[in-house]
Amino acid sequence: MTLFHLIASWIGYLLMCLFGLILIAFLIFCLYIKYIHLKYDHIPGPPRDSFLFGHSPTLLREMSNDRVVHDKFLEWAETYGPVYRINGMHVVVLCVTCPDTTKEVLMSPKYPKDSLVYKHLFNLFGQRFLGSGLVTAQNHDEWYKQRRIMDPAFSSLYLRGQMGVFNERAEKLMDKLADMADTNTAANMHHMFNCVTLDVITKVAFGVELDLLNESDSPFPNAIEMCLKGMVHYLRDSTFQLYPKNKKFINEVKKSCRLLRSTGRQWINERKMAVQNGEDVPKDILTQILKTAGKEENIANDDEELMLDNFVTFFIAGQETTANQLAFAVMELGRLPEILTKVKQEVDDVIGMKQEISFDDLGKMTYLSQVLKETLRLYPTAPGTSRFIPNDIVINGIPIPAGVTCFFSSYVCGRLDKFFEDPLTFDPERFHPDAAKPYYCYYPFALGPRSCLGQSFAQMEAKVVMAKLLQRFDFSLLPGQSFDILDTGTLRPKSGVVCNIRHRGQTPAA
Ligand code: HEM
Repeated sequence: MTLFHLIASWIGYLLMCLFGLILIAFLIFCLYIKYIHLKYDHIPGPPRDSFLFGHSPTLLREMSNDRVVHDKFLEWAETYGPVYRINGMHVVVLCVTCPDTTKEVLMSPKYPKDSLVYKHLFNLFGQRFLGSGLVTAQNHDEWYKQRRIMDPAFSSLYLRGQMGVFNERAEKLMDKLADMADTNTAANMHHMFNCVTLDVITKVAFGVELDLLNESDSPFPNAIEMCLKGMVHYLRDSTFQLYPKNKKFINEVKKSCRLLRSTGRQWINERKMAVQNGEDVPKDILTQILKTAGKEENIANDDEELMLDNFVTFFIAGQETTANQLAFAVMELGRLPEILTKVKQEVDDVIGMKQEISFDDLGKMTYLSQVLKETLRLYPTAPGTSRFIPNDIVINGIPIPAGVTCFFSSYVCGRLDKFFEDPLTFDPERFHPDAAKPYYCYYPFALGPRSCLGQSFAQMEAKVVMAKLLQRFDFSLLPGQSFDILDTGTLRPKSGVVCNIRHRGQTPAA
């Protein structure tokens, strides 16, 4: 009995100590948050929802209501100006739309990608995902080494050589659309564009034929979709994993990550074998990925994993963004007949009835370029980027102490009327070659050394697909289509852009 009392009092004592320690740790954490508030509260910003959680409740509410969180950032930018502060516990993020700071920070290698977002994407729910690949690498030297190796697969010379693939894959989409026009079937353009951009990236980047428009049972579209969805939950809500109801979804996301990585392993090994057998392999992205690893005989596990990181990176970065851009472009053209007529006229003038579009033709379709640029102003499918600020700086006259993250939103800048008059109007004339160039307030492909490696690739692909579509078909959006944006990390049209497709009465020459 005495022993029982002794043990019970010891346990009680230990619990009290533990509780006391937790309380002290919590108070120290609160003091630290107070210190952070004192350090950064001179920067304008909306009132915090709570001392501890800062603005997180508002942002989580926006996200859970299926709204575009960037609209909240836009509202705050209109109210609080070119730099404002967002708090979440001890973390401070500055939303910056000041063009001079955008230039200074994004154009310089001095400001690394911030760990808040990019380190997080190393794994998805514990499963290695983008790792230290091109998008997520934070260390400048590690990133630069990879980028230098990858550059040749994106050179203008190399991409010119891929025009055949762009044409051939776009042609398959046209065949599919022709069938739909013949049978009067409505076309979900977003879905179709997703298939074609995935076909293109696997063919151009990895030398693999998928033909997703005709093979609906491929696991890749769903795997990419799951990874993107998983990314959003993983980044935006650190408690997501704690709820048992999310377990099934999380397992599915991890399975999708594993599928992409095991596919990468298989395709990389096949290419390695081809190289070893002296076969003539293309100088494509996969070949360049192989070069990021050490020499054949001493490929370390880390190198192997890095190759897979980049494989997944290209799968993710190289597909959905372009498909969404195309779908948004069709959505806007579908409701703006004057712009549609003008762009069709240009396509007719430049390519006429021609089936094989050349690289030089692309350069001549300047109005189509304007349409695509304007699409990314209103709908920047990869809506922003962020950098860590390791030293004190001044933004718009406000001194900013070191240690914060700056978030640059292409979505917010593109919709601020101080940068673009009447910003919600879709007007490709803003990007007329003679119009003033936007000064560091338009960056759908980011800017500076960490800007999109696939920009030319994406815009060549988008132009080939759009030109063929405009050359062959009339389309009208089905009634009841909403023009809302779905924010899944990348921005995509909520409605799927479902259209009725009709032949234009032209038969393209073979
Ligand atoms: C409309 C289509 C596209 C848009 C709007 C877009 C946008 C972007 C943006 C904003 C970034 C910076 C990301 C960040 O800082 O977090 C980026 C990076 C990147 N993108 Fe794209 N992208 C597109 C298509 C592509 C394609 C087709 C590829 C590959 C074939 C690609 C490959 C990459 C890579 C590798 C990076 C990382 C670059 C680096 O840090 O060195 N992107 N892209």
